[in-house]
Amino acid sequence: MSERSLLASIQKNGPDFTTYGCEITVAVLNASIPSRSNVYTIPLMYVNVAIDISVRTYRDPQIPPDLKPTKVESKPDGLEVLWPTSLPHTSFYPWSWLRQHSYDPPLRQHEKSSEKILWGSKIQQSPPTVSYEEVMASDDKGLFKWLSNVDKFGFSFVSGVPVTLEATEELSMRIGLIRETHYGKLWDFTADLAKGDTAYTTLALGAHTDNTYFTDPCGLQLFHLLSHTEGSGGSTLLVDGFYVASILKELHPTVYDTLSRIGVPAHAAGEPGSIYTPTPRNAYPVLRHHQDELAQIRWNNDDRSVMDHLSASEVEEWYQAVRLWHKFLTSADSEYWVQLSPVVDNHRVLHGRSAFTGKRRMCGAYIGVDEYRSKFTVLSEKFASRPASPETSDASVRETGVWNHYL
Ligand SMILES: [Fe+2]
Repeated sequence: MSERSLLASIQKNGPDFTTYGCEITVAVLNASIPSRSNVYTIPLMYVNVAIDISVRTYRDPQIPPDLKPTKVESKPDGLEVLWPTSLPHTSFYPWSWLRQHSYDPPLRQHEKSSEKILWGSKIQQSPPTVSYEEVMASDDKGLFKWLSNVDKFGFSFVSGVPVTLEATEELSMRIGLIRETHYGKLWDFTADLAKGDTAYTTLALGAHTDNTYFTDPCGLQLFHLLSHTEGSGGSTLLVDGFYVASILKELHPTVYDTLSRIGVPAHAAGEPGSIYTPTPRNAYPVLRHHQDELAQIRWNNDDRSVMDHLSASEVEEWYQAVRLWHKFLTSADSEYWVQLSPVVDNHRVLHGRSAFTGKRRMCGAYIGVDEYRSKFTVLSEKFASRPASPETSDASVRETGVWNHYL
């Protein structure tokens, strides 16, 4: 049925729903339905969900290719679909869910919570900060504020954290499970080379991300300076990798392309009994993209392995690119130096430190990106002021549970 004849049919008979193979076209013109006039297509999904465990209990391959609804009926809050007796079930799709998953045309709305605020050195005037009391409060509002800061800025400070391992661990666990690695669970280190890594020295460390030698680098990194006596130095360096990349893309697009295309092998081999390299070894560039959007920074010159997978011209191209990348990373406009310990999005913000003297004790933890995003998603559902859908404010169809748009 053409769109025009479909519209004519709807105007005459009310809402109409037409299936085409694995799609359903939903046409909504009826004034009784809380929607702007529109026609859109969604994937036809046989919805048979176990609400309590938020998983589907059918197997997609067992759905007959010619499956069609017996009846489709519009309701104030969504669409009710009755399936044939061979697979007897009634599905209900909230309007908000239908709009979120329509693809012809796509009607989904961008999530405000995922908007990133890029920053340079001027962020020192007002760095994102929450208090320890806020984060630890049982109402979770402070925790949401903390993770919202990290989502927007790629880092946040927490003020007033007691300088103990126990308090640092409790703070980390507010987000999720601590990720144990070959450095241990909660690290507690001094400049004693207890581990074969430059972090365990007094050396200055240039801006870098951690775990470039892992296939899945940690999502968050939490630092906490417990003590520093008999010396000075050891300032924290933060650089917004997405900010630097945005400048590079504007001014030197070919260099940006090189850093987005050429994979960089890395390794961690300082510990006896372990040699970590990402899998595949050469698969991950400095600037990793997803659907043309920058998704992750992976950069640690100290962990880089030999670039033996490139041609001679590519080697030259890559070295030229990293010279410029380094120049922008280390510019006064990019570098934010501070004497505080942050939590950092390791997929976006690079960290480093100045050299130091004296005795310095630092602790911290890695948290997986999935743990961080899970907690942030749950709290976004709980606190975000986003309406349930453009058409209705009915809380019953708010995007929670199985109708969360991620599911
Ligand atoms: Fe590091």
